[in-house]
Amino acid sequence: MASIAAVLLVLLPLLLSAAVAGATHPDGGFGFGFQATLTHVDAGAGYTDAQLLARAVRRSRSRVGALQSLATAADALTAARILVQASQGEYLMSMAIGTPPRYYSAILDTGSDLIWTQCAPCMLCVDQPTPYFDPARSSSYAKLSCSSPMCGALYYPLCYQNTCVYQYFYGDSANTAGVLANETFTFGTNGTWVTVPRIAFGCGNLNAGSLFNGSGMVGFGRGPLSLVSQLGAPRFSYCLTSFMSPVPSRLYFGAYATLNSTSTSDSGPVQSTPFIINPALPTMYYLNMTGISVGGDRLAVKLSVFAINEEDGTGGVIIDSGSTITYLAQPAYDMVHEAFVAQVGLPLANVTSPDDLSTCFKWPPPPKRVVSMPELMFHFDGADMDLPLENYMLIDGSTGNLCLAMAPSNDGSIIGSFQHANFHVLYDNENSFLSFIPAPCNLI
Ligand SMILES: *[C@@H]1O[C@H](CO)[C@@H](O)[C@H](O)[C@H]1NC(C)=O
Ligand SMILES: *[C@@H]1O[C@H](CO)[C@@H](O)[C@H](O)[C@H]1NC(C)=O
Ligand SMILES: *[C@@H]1O[C@H](CO)[C@@H](O)[C@H](O)[C@H]1NC(C)=O
Ligand SMILES: *[C@@H]1O[C@H](CO)[C@@H](O)[C@H](O)[C@H]1NC(C)=O
Ligand SMILES: *[C@@H]1O[C@H](CO)[C@@H](O)[C@H](O)[C@H]1NC(C)=O
Ligand SMILES: *[C@@H]1O[C@H](CO)[C@@H](O)[C@H](O)[C@H]1NC(C)=O
Repeated sequence: MASIAAVLLVLLPLLLSAAVAGATHPDGGFGFGFQATLTHVDAGAGYTDAQLLARAVRRSRSRVGALQSLATAADALTAARILVQASQGEYLMSMAIGTPPRYYSAILDTGSDLIWTQCAPCMLCVDQPTPYFDPARSSSYAKLSCSSPMCGALYYPLCYQNTCVYQYFYGDSANTAGVLANETFTFGTNGTWVTVPRIAFGCGNLNAGSLFNGSGMVGFGRGPLSLVSQLGAPRFSYCLTSFMSPVPSRLYFGAYATLNSTSTSDSGPVQSTPFIINPALPTMYYLNMTGISVGGDRLAVKLSVFAINEEDGTGGVIIDSGSTITYLAQPAYDMVHEAFVAQVGLPLANVTSPDDLSTCFKWPPPPKRVVSMPELMFHFDGADMDLPLENYMLIDGSTGNLCLAMAPSNDGSIIGSFQHANFHVLYDNENSFLSFIPAPCNLI
């Protein structure tokens, strides 16, 4: 990391000489909303279900590590260095940057704030499917001064000739550095594009890590630099299809984000639970989880297992679009494991590698018997999430075992996207709560 920062300073004059001054930008009206397509990062690459699963579990594992070390960071610089790993996003959002618009896909991340893309001239870039964004060929690009409020919102701003320079570190494997600038962005889908001027973003000339077939990231966190905050969006929602489904997922932003309780009346009422703020990690969406039921029995998990530690900001429960499987704090995981072992009438499979899921059952030999699985429900303050079977059990392709799609965490808990597939999930930032309702995401 230190060597990257040193290289950055040497290259600054070169990098800045390529920047052009901003021209005029049209004023975008707000009242505002759009829908966008979300594509899973591994879509279209020809992976088998088993490979998809193994890749997703591996990504989740390194993400949980990054999120946990972030809470215990001693200061802003350390936090900046270990921010959520860029390579751990799961969904790509289609969007466009500049005037004229250049279309690309960025990793959607509810766990970070910055919007950034790789920019020409590239000092160091990673592979991406679209050309690097060239600010010299956009009439709406305007670099920001060091005194701009957005520069002040960075974890660790640098100033060079009164231009704001950002550097963002995501875990050990990915980082980006470059100029903080305003640009016009275009969001939506074919037919309903909306254009918004003057969104602050990172124009990255020095990038490392993997973007998993995206061309940047778009932060949906709660901090001032995120897309949600910059657009003053009162709410957004998404409906994720199963990550093994070829059908893309949907994002609804602003006015488009509403839960359709009428069209899904057979799935019960909309459930809502307040967000809680963790002062140590204000970007993340924390939930007040209050319990877990397996097979209708509420487990005796102490509330403190899910609570944020007020002393150092560790612990707590995050909902996160960028993790696949759910991580439960060890005491909660152990009780879920015990309850499944007691209630599933199948032999527990031995864990052979530390990378394996650890609540797995041997599938009965042929002729296959019908196995019944206990129901699983997550309880939150004011809301119950009744999980469909396919959101918590999966077949491990390498062993053929039937596994619980969860793993233990030695710090906080993370509700991953595998568990909220086929739920329409609404983040109501204006009223600070999360709502959800089961929905056939491949149909809407
Ligand atoms: C990017 O997508 C292509 C084709 O869709 C695939 O072959 C490749 O493995 C993907 N790369 C990464 C890093 O996911
Ligand atoms: C928009 O439509 C064009 C032509 O039909 C297609 O090639 C492109 O992939 C579409 N883009 C999106 C984001 O749906
Ligand atoms: C960048 O955008 C913000 C928000 O619209 C605006 O206040 C600021 O003047 C812009 N700065 C430049 C240099 O265009
Ligand atoms: C809401 O319901 C209407 C009518 O049933 C449907 O056309 C629309 O696609 C639904 N939208 C969402 C986001 O579920
Ligand atoms: C698990 O491993 C133990 C000890 O190696 C062995 O005795 C037991 O039969 C194994 N269980 C299964 C289900 O394979
Ligand atoms: C979490 O919910 C419980 C039960 O409603 C409540 O007693 C507790 O105060 C809540 N905790 C926070 C931090 O809001």
